[in-house]
Amino acid sequence: MAMELPDEAISYNYQGLLTPLGEEWTAAAELRTRHFLSPTRLKDLVPRLLQARSQVAADREVRNVPPERLPIDPGFIDLPQATLDQHRRKGDASELGRTLNLAAHLREQADRIVILGIGGSYLGGRALFEALKSAYHNELPPETRLGVPCIYFAGHNVDNDALQDLLDLIQVSCVDPERREERWAVVTITKSGASLEPAIVRRVFRREGTEYYGLHSAWLQELFAAVTGPSSKMRDLSVAEEVPEANVLTIPDHVGGRYSVFTPAGLLPAALMGLDVRALLLGAAAMTKRFLEESFERNPVLQFAAVNYLMAEECGKPLRVFSIWSKKLESVGLWYDQLLAESLGKQGRGPTPLTVVQTRDLHTRGQQHQEGPRDRVINNLVVKNPRAVAIQVQMADHNEDELNAYARKGLPDLMAAALRGTNQAYFDVARPTADLIVPTLSEHTMGQLLQMLMLATVIEGTLMGINPYGQPGVETYKRNMNVVLES
Ligand code: PA5
Repeated sequence: MAMELPDEAISYNYQGLLTPLGEEWTAAAELRTRHFLSPTRLKDLVPRLLQARSQVAADREVRNVPPERLPIDPGFIDLPQATLDQHRRKGDASELGRTLNLAAHLREQADRIVILGIGGSYLGGRALFEALKSAYHNELPPETRLGVPCIYFAGHNVDNDALQDLLDLIQVSCVDPERREERWAVVTITKSGASLEPAIVRRVFRREGTEYYGLHSAWLQELFAAVTGPSSKMRDLSVAEEVPEANVLTIPDHVGGRYSVFTPAGLLPAALMGLDVRALLLGAAAMTKRFLEESFERNPVLQFAAVNYLMAEECGKPLRVFSIWSKKLESVGLWYDQLLAESLGKQGRGPTPLTVVQTRDLHTRGQQHQEGPRDRVINNLVVKNPRAVAIQVQMADHNEDELNAYARKGLPDLMAAALRGTNQAYFDVARPTADLIVPTLSEHTMGQLLQMLMLATVIEGTLMGINPYGQPGVETYKRNMNVVLES
């Protein structure tokens, strides 16, 4: 049974975008009745919302799916708990056991890991890395990294100069392949095995590897790993190159790319980074349980889906700003951009996601949020308590900058004041804003957060009558690109 630590539960505070009841008439109050969400409208949606939840829950069991409903990939919903259960039963032979063992092996053998993948096959891993590791992890000396290798993400484009920068770094810092500190490994993540970008870049690293380790070196097998679908070109290639079976992990059927962060696609990178993979899964499993069992009032998945659905579909707010009040969660924003855009951007419909990081982007887009088009809802993503001790503003002898007034306040106080001030500014001019609150950054809260956003996206798609799985529109550029390359 998934365990939830009560003080670590995520919550969604949307009261601020409901039309205030019994507000005296003013011009601003009038605007709020036009642009905020009426509590009655939200209440009226609840029966449909619960129906959508029942349908999503039933889809987990459905076997013979009618063709018009395909693709349907609800495997991600129960996966976190199923992964933990299988690990408990089968230990090293389970997929999680194999993932942890492969990570331990690669960490033992190499001090630099290049992770290749694109879209859903890399954004989750990157989000975990940025949220839970030091921003300067790769610059830290090996003894401070405690056996965790430097991690690089590549294979998400075919940018010549960007790739050359990484090759240059590896070439100048790795000279003697006999030393662990100078060995590098490559993990390629691709469910279909057919994405050109990671495959091309893998080939570049393969050639680099034959030069560095030697054409017949065992390192060429040992230090290349793949995470891929049950059958794929990447799996075939790994077999042909005699990559050991232990170095190939599986993204199961019925889990789509952007829903795959709790398969080895996200768990292998997490384990390589030295994160607590079980805590991640426990957080995700706790969110699934909450989603399936809790009432609307205690269910952040249903609340987030309902509020954002109504804003986009009925209140004329198709732009969804994810306003992130923690620099370390910027990549969660980019991960959500992809999740929302690929899942719901279909049939000429779908909300448009936009990630901003505060307070940085108050100085880039803040003006537009305050006074620009009324086409957006703002979801703040707020981390309530920092992990590190608060950095204090100091008293100073020279007060020409007039900061002594803030002495003894910490940076978290400044951040909280900026958030309150911004929310008030938006409220006053009827700009709808809600807060998604993460108690602190940890594996357990990240597990909850990512699972919550995936579940909410599926519910939103169900309310819209749009299949949130599959991304047929992405195929067109690939076909055209191949035609150009082959002409
Ligand atoms: O969500 C999706 O399915 C996509 O974004 C894929 O993750 C992305 O296209 C990469 O695909 P693959 O893992 O097959 O290389």
